[in-house]
Amino acid sequence: MRVVSGIQTTGNLHLGNYLGAIRNWVRLQDSMGADDTCLFFLADLHALTVSIDPATLASNTIEMAATLLAAGIDPDRSILFNQARVPAHSELAWILGGTARVGWLNRMTQWKDKAGKNREGASVGLFTYPVLQAADILGYRATHVPVGEDQKQHLELARDIATKFNLDFGVDLFPLPEPMIPEDTPRIMSLRDGSAKMSKSDPSDMSRINLIDTDDLIATKFRKAKTDPEPLPGDLAGLAGRAEARNLVTIFAALANEAPQSVLDRFAGQGFGQFKPALADLAVATLGPIRDRLVALLDDRDAVGTTLARGAAKAEALVRPTLLAAQRAVGLQV
Ligand code: TRP
Repeated sequence: MRVVSGIQTTGNLHLGNYLGAIRNWVRLQDSMGADDTCLFFLADLHALTVSIDPATLASNTIEMAATLLAAGIDPDRSILFNQARVPAHSELAWILGGTARVGWLNRMTQWKDKAGKNREGASVGLFTYPVLQAADILGYRATHVPVGEDQKQHLELARDIATKFNLDFGVDLFPLPEPMIPEDTPRIMSLRDGSAKMSKSDPSDMSRINLIDTDDLIATKFRKAKTDPEPLPGDLAGLAGRAEARNLVTIFAALANEAPQSVLDRFAGQGFGQFKPALADLAVATLGPIRDRLVALLDDRDAVGTTLARGAAKAEALVRPTLLAAQRAVGLQV
């Protein structure tokens, strides 16, 4: 298996990011055999497709890398790097830009959503974003790409580009990558509103557990989380119409590595006065060590940068032969 995935560089990661994406990467890394390779990168080039503040982008990249390391990505077992340090991504994206069709990109829902009504004013990069993503994947001849449901269409596009490139140039260069979409990924909602996703852009900090939060803050946020006066039900059906209650059960189950039903088996009939402290203790026990590692890494940002540079050198060695083969296939003299 050759696993490749990228993550957008945002600051201030929270519990939803951890349980929704980062933890899946760590588990995947931990399940790899000796002949498998995992490449994980920070998509800093993709960040340029919307308006950015340069200083923020630079610090987000380091903070995101520190978060991944703190969460358990091991740079000796996985190749961790930032996209911008491996120029082959950009070089291959340009070549694949000759293969991708405007009509294909026009159908991308992420493009339609992000450009909205103002397509004329959107950046060209936002439009060609999925071509760069295809280069990220195809450059490593990836077999598997762990992504969220929302990236399925971009994966399909990468497969279409690979197929057309192989066909047009009579080569067998790019294998078709498979998306890996974990079925049991929990959707973590705001602690203040069970119908909204936990988000870093929510103005209320009480709505989310940040991975950098202290133990006390974690406990306070769970204590103050919105709930209802009913006790916990004995089965999942009893959580219908109780979005906040369901969210806390979901979080408990995810942190405990249990099914939500087994959490209900344990807490059925108890009120939130009992459940919330148990949840806070569990969260502190699982997230506390990650936070401690994160704080230490953020104290030595240069070391994080060095780790990324080492990962980039390994990535470069893997991607370069594919880029050369692509250049040769299309007749570039380089
Ligand atoms: N577009 C992906 C996202 O928003 C991030 C990404 C960039 C990616 N390049 C990738 C994911 C390559 C998988 C493979 O989540």
